[in-house]
Amino acid sequence: MKKLLFLILVVSLAAASCGRKEEKTDLSKDQRKESSGNTNSAGFTAKGKEIFYQTSNLTGLKCADCHSDGTNTGNTNTKYFSDVIGASKRTSVYSGMITGEDVKKKGAGASVCWETYLKMGRPVTLEEIDALNAYFESLKGEVKESKYTSLAVPVSDKAKLKEDLLKIGGLTPDIQNGEKKFKETCGFCHGGKTVKHVPSVTDEDFEGNLKSVAFHIRFGAKFMPFYSYEKISDQDISDITEYIMKNKKK
Ligand code: HEC
Ligand code: HEC
Repeated sequence: MKKLLFLILVVSLAAASCGRKEEKTDLSKDQRKESSGNTNSAGFTAKGKEIFYQTSNLTGLKCADCHSDGTNTGNTNTKYFSDVIGASKRTSVYSGMITGEDVKKKGAGASVCWETYLKMGRPVTLEEIDALNAYFESLKGEVKESKYTSLAVPVSDKAKLKEDLLKIGGLTPDIQNGEKKFKETCGFCHGGKTVKHVPSVTDEDFEGNLKSVAFHIRFGAKFMPFYSYEKISDQDISDITEYIMKNKKK
């Protein structure tokens, strides 16, 4: 019985200290310096790379599935999202949702992706953020701000989608372009086997329509990412919907 009580105490202490670690993400720069050692060391950069390539048990996704670090562009899905080269040095990320000092504190937006797309079941730690930042800064290439327009961030705009839908409904779909785009990005999850818990949009019983496809593309859902106008245009939405509807397996 004593042993059990001791175990409970140890576990709850560990849990409490985990919680505290997360709060540190909001501490000032100087305190951050104290808590994390030399973020420029090779070991730190290697740790960041490891995190970037580590697969979530829950979703089956890893950062490198959606973002390019300059070496993984063979995966066409990475064409649809920002690259992470020098991301922590950008002045603003996530389309202005994260700016200034918060860029570094949130791993240039990695903390949002960690929760949304990896669903790791615990908050990302300060050390992991620092390691990711070190990795982003170690990557070769020009540091560019990632600029795009989306309906999901910095603020969600559902009314605009309604307007867009009227327009998209009047477009003439190009099914070949729809197939290309579907295979480059959607198929990575819808159709592949590595990503978990993804509903089928290719089976006969898929009851979607233009509205549901457009909604999912513009806003994402669960760990489906949202897409900007620059990456998937209204014409592309028309084309992809046509491909999905005409290609359903009987
Ligand atoms: C399922 C796809 C997906 C996964 C997996 C994912 N992200 Fe993201 N990430 C996004 C989307 C969508 C955005 C916002 C749109 C964009 O920047 O292309 C984004 C934005 C970002 C940004 C901000 C870029 C900028 O300049 O605005 C960074 C940095 C980032 N993610 C890093 C990560 C890291 C690190 C991981 C792993 C812990 C990760 N992401 C996992 C989809 C993903
Ligand atoms: C990173 C993985 C991922 C990618 C890439 C992805 N999806 Fe999804 N998609 C999901 C998940 C997970 C859901 C389930 C969301 C939910 O349950 O709310 C989903 C749901 C959907 C749905 C609703 C399905 C239903 O049963 O009603 C549609 C439609 C859809 N996605 C279309 C697309 C299209 C089109 C693309 C490409 C432009 C795409 N998805 C890219 C993961 C993904």
